[in-house]
Amino acid sequence: MNNFEKAEKKLKDYNQTHILDYLENLENEQKDEAINQILELDFEKMKELFQESKKEKDFTKEKIEPIECIDKEKIDIAEKIKLQKLGEEIIKNNQYAVVTMAGGQGTRLGFDGPKGTFKLDIGENGKYIFEILAETLKKSKELYDVMPYWYIMTSEQNHNKTVEFFKEHNFFEYDEGKINFFKQADLPLLTLEGKMVWDDEKSKIKTASNGNGGVYKALETNGMIDDMRSKNVKWVYISGVDNIMVKPIDALFIGLTISKNENVASKSIIKDYPDEKIGAFCRRNGKIGVIEYIELSQEMRNEKNANGDLKYGDSNFVSHLLTVDAIEKIAGQNLRFHAAVKNNMYKFEEFIFDGFEFVDNMVVMRVKREEEFAPIKNKEGIDSPETAKKIYERNYFNG
Ligand code: UTP
Repeated sequence: MNNFEKAEKKLKDYNQTHILDYLENLENEQKDEAINQILELDFEKMKELFQESKKEKDFTKEKIEPIECIDKEKIDIAEKIKLQKLGEEIIKNNQYAVVTMAGGQGTRLGFDGPKGTFKLDIGENGKYIFEILAETLKKSKELYDVMPYWYIMTSEQNHNKTVEFFKEHNFFEYDEGKINFFKQADLPLLTLEGKMVWDDEKSKIKTASNGNGGVYKALETNGMIDDMRSKNVKWVYISGVDNIMVKPIDALFIGLTISKNENVASKSIIKDYPDEKIGAFCRRNGKIGVIEYIELSQEMRNEKNANGDLKYGDSNFVSHLLTVDAIEKIAGQNLRFHAAVKNNMYKFEEFIFDGFEFVDNMVVMRVKREEEFAPIKNKEGIDSPETAKKIYERNYFNG
């Protein structure tokens, strides 16, 4: 059987014969590339993911328990100074790296380009999201005379545009030698009927990035873990591109995690109200995880602990700290997939926090939401450029 026949058989076996029509219209190199893509794609996995997405989930059978959180504000001053010093050593010794996950599609923002290249109406001339992140990281130079290593995760869709953008803007005066771009993996999109979709522009099956949980394997397969080890990096802070108040240079957070002898930590913010649609840290069947709003019963949403805090109130805003060892360990595991419907198609995503189930324990440090969280998700309304700008300006321009 030649490659075309093998691809044809695969498409027939998995009920995707509509792709054949497109394939037959291609010639030479384009055709070979499309055939190779079909031969390489894991159709069996896509079939499983589709079937899984159709199943009703029964959350009630899972054992959900709250997880202990440390309120940053409640750590006493002497302890804070000690922890701060511990963390500062890591940064000063160049053992610290920051990963910005910028491989998402930014569907809700509806901006034609990588989200990080979106310009906000901030300051005199406006500021790009990547520019704000670079400025935040450069504070480390002022404080500790070190710019941390900066790893930027892109995807097949936005890699070239992202790298070009940084070049055009002279890397926002960040030390270029300390920046690494790396691409995350892709997965096919499926229609709501489970059919693969043809990408006319690229003349192949349409794919999209595999969720922010793809960061672990992407770091490994792109040689970034080896790169970190060769530079003696010990701690890695990971967050998304879309929070312009992110605080990666936080020695206290690093020091606290070291002092607790853990390899993984996250910052949390408290839910504004019990029904807020944000995932909370918890233990799920004994393992660390995040429980989404829809998974909590009305009773659990309102339940309080002895301190009067919501039991499931400490929420995840994608602000994580891991040792290189922990990243490597998680990269060796298979994370579960979550199905999201974007633009009327299924996109299958791994979530970064699902990696935490592979460690025994972690530190969760509660921080003030108004100081560290200004997400840009939607074009307008909540979590939009307008709301993020307000939070940013309140923090940086009005004292
Ligand atoms: P979101 O889940 O908000 O997705 O990503 P998104 O793609 O940015 O936006 P929508 O849902 O299409 O509107 C949270 C963070 O994780 C990153 C995003 O770039 C963002 O910083 N991410 C998400 C990736 O790096 N890769 C992915 O595949 C998905």
